Amino acid sequence: MDTVRTDVVVIGSGIAGLFLALKVSRFAEVIVLTKKMSAESNTFYAQGGIASVMGSTDSFDLHIADTMAAGQGLCKFDSVEIMVREGPGMVRELIELGVRFNREEGGEGFQLGREGGHSAPRILHYGDLTGQEVESSLLGAVNEAERVTLCSDHMAIDLIVDDRKRVHGCFVLDREGGKVKKYIARHTVIATGGAGKIYLYTSNPDIATGDGIAMAYRGGATITNLEFVQFHPTCLYHPDAKSLLISETLRGEGAVLKNLGGEEFMRQYDERAELAPRDIVARAIDREMKKSGDKHVLLDISHRRPSWLKSRFPFIYENCLKYGIDIGRQPIPVVPAAHYMCGGIRVDMNGHTDLDGLLAIGEAACTGVHGANRLASNSLLEALVVSHRCAAWLEQGGGVTGREGVYGLDEPFVGDPKTLETVILDHDWDLTRRVMWDYVGIVRSEERLGIARARIAQIQETVERLYHEYGVSGDMVELRNIALVSGLVVTSALSRKESRGLHYMIDYPNPDPAFERDTGLCLGDGSGY
Ligand code: FAD
Ligand code: SIN
Repeated sequence: MDTVRTDVVVIGSGIAGLFLALKVSRFAEVIVLTKKMSAESNTFYAQGGIASVMGSTDSFDLHIADTMAAGQGLCKFDSVEIMVREGPGMVRELIELGVRFNREEGGEGFQLGREGGHSAPRILHYGDLTGQEVESSLLGAVNEAERVTLCSDHMAIDLIVDDRKRVHGCFVLDREGGKVKKYIARHTVIATGGAGKIYLYTSNPDIATGDGIAMAYRGGATITNLEFVQFHPTCLYHPDAKSLLISETLRGEGAVLKNLGGEEFMRQYDERAELAPRDIVARAIDREMKKSGDKHVLLDISHRRPSWLKSRFPFIYENCLKYGIDIGRQPIPVVPAAHYMCGGIRVDMNGHTDLDGLLAIGEAACTGVHGANRLASNSLLEALVVSHRCAAWLEQGGGVTGREGVYGLDEPFVGDPKTLETVILDHDWDLTRRVMWDYVGIVRSEERLGIARARIAQIQETVERLYHEYGVSGDMVELRNIALVSGLVVTSALSRKESRGLHYMIDYPNPDPAFERDTGLCLGDGSGY
């Protein structure tokens, strides 16, 4: 098997992986692996923007208080404080790299957007193309940096872990060459993003299959708070649209939610109406749809001038038009969809996991800043702050693990996956995502979760057998990962016998102080996996 050696291997080329790689390249050699084209990431599709205290009417205390309130008792105060206070410095670094944010007309300050749960305008944005702006600027900088090699179409399969739980790199599928290679590094950084694709309907692009979370779990790291899956209240409802988010900043600019009877319903659920935190808005929409039997609700911003809409929301305006919806003239049909994983690989604010040699940053990691519900636009901010701190820790010597003594490796079997009938993979892929959508969605119950556990366990057993029999292919790796992560979400959800933030259980409709703690799953701890 071909072996490549480097100082730091980063898996993932979204905001977290690229920001870290850029910084690390100033003092070490870095390889960034990414499983598709380098820009394809959740980051690229971010619309609303980055929450950060940049305006005179705002304060660190307010941003901290809003984040803590959204997280419903599970945010780690010290981590939130670090994110909020160090955030503006990171935003300035982005600006120095060339990232553009909209400025006030004729003024010096930034044009700041509003989103649910924020008590002040605080969202820096570039129209509704913020993610694209950030991702392309970071890619430009990484491509110019001398000590970074970016390898697209390179999919990490599993970590290389020795018997003492030290991580030495990863096994990687070079998708063009169809070969598995070994990447050996002093430090391995998981920056693989979220896992929206475990659900049938999601705002996430196809890359979001939870690979990093699955790899870390198989490698022996602790995975925490996976029951807190954030559903975005408003994705376009259209038979031909796949994953088109309608940003919360539309509601920040006055868009109103209505049921198909034309009734504005949000105030019945929360006095903050359209700007209540996301868990509340998503559950309200779910309730309205269940009450009426309708397949969607409406989001109306048609009272704003078309010319203003075109310049503030160019991406949404154009893309809705492609589906025949003129947002300046008619309401937008919307439904909630799986959007963000608040849980993930347990880390501290420097990205340290509980495995020597393994770091995790961005959406794949769980630092404790989001608690039971992430405040809108805090994730890009968190990714920047933790990546920066992780790079600083690596620069200071970062508890270097040896490259020698790599042993006890369980190499992936290359086999001939082409001989496996695709119908089998496709069926299990669809089934997993449908089970998750129907039984592990916005509103949960013991009954539904119990059924989901049995179904997902069966799929996992089949997929593991096929993986070991037929060998590695891109589709097989992703299916294996969505099945595992789905199982972990179900197990975490079953273990939280209360309702808190994004985890709403019919059987236990209230928060219970006994559960005001994180859940954690680790291979071999009796959690059933
Ligand atoms: P990502 O940006 O998802 O990058 C993950 C990378 O890992 C990708 O390059 C992927 O290809 C790669 N990868 C995955 N698995 C493998 C593997 N096995 N091998 C190799 N490479 C792999 N947050 C905000 O704060 N503000 C917003 O306005 C906002 N809007 C959003 C809009 C949408 C539509 C979506 C989907 C999310 C939004 N979010 C927003 C959330 C935010 O975009 C993400 O949380 C954040 O971008 C995650 O960054 P990341 O670097 O951790 O992961
Ligand atoms: C949005 O623009 O609504 C998404 C913001 C986020 O997920 O933080």
